Amino acid sequence: MTAQPSARGDVAVVVPAAGAGVRLGPGGPKALRLLDGEPLLVHAIRRIAASPSVAMIVVAAPPPDVDAVRTLLAQIAPVTVVAGGAERQESVAAALAAVPPALPIVLVHDAARCLTPVAVFERVAAAVRDGADAVIPVLPVVDTIKEVSAEGTVLGTVDRAVLRAVQTPQGFRADVLRAAHAAAADSHTDDAGAVEKLGRSVHCVPGSDLALKITRPIDLAVAAHLLTLPPEQS
Ligand code: C5P
Repeated sequence: MTAQPSARGDVAVVVPAAGAGVRLGPGGPKALRLLDGEPLLVHAIRRIAASPSVAMIVVAAPPPDVDAVRTLLAQIAPVTVVAGGAERQESVAAALAAVPPALPIVLVHDAARCLTPVAVFERVAAAVRDGADAVIPVLPVVDTIKEVSAEGTVLGTVDRAVLRAVQTPQGFRADVLRAAHAAAADSHTDDAGAVEKLGRSVHCVPGSDLALKITRPIDLAVAAHLLTLPPEQS
């Protein structure tokens, strides 16, 4: 499959894919683990390339695997591959550096959320296009959440009505994301967090159950089952 001609073509998608995947158990880098016979990264790139807004994709690969990832993805879509860093935010920064200033919107998408439907990419991009500085896809929290001390004593129950579980792709005005990365002194687990520290507002749109993050072995089993269901709804 190749990238479809872009309807709007104003979006670059940056894909951090350089993680080791330690929590997934022994094996290669997480983005290159197989799901239904293909690397997670291939599943992710297929969906990104099918999103009409997307003009450019930049993948941050594990440094030893840059050439192999370039060869792998050349069969799927036009993709720029750079070497990732030791931390996720370094990988995002390396990929962001390869995005030309002319593209006004940047989405940051974890390769580990490889089944994220096209509709989510389009929803996030549309909200940035409509004027938001930063946009995150979210889901309601279904579990009861408690604050617990280091000794295992419950300190309190958090009102879950005000909580959201945050997914990717997270979308940004490109200049806002660059400013957030330039200003980020300490580590952050998501890019919207760096934008929050700039004092800018972050807008929420609905995420998708299909955008689960493959982290533990059970997630791979769930993702394999999801692939057997009828084509993406969301
Ligand atoms: O480790 P975690 O699951 O939070 O990683 C989220 C995403 O960030 C994954 O797609 C992973 O490949 C990527 N990552 C990266 N560079 C790192 C660590 C993680 O690109 N050094």
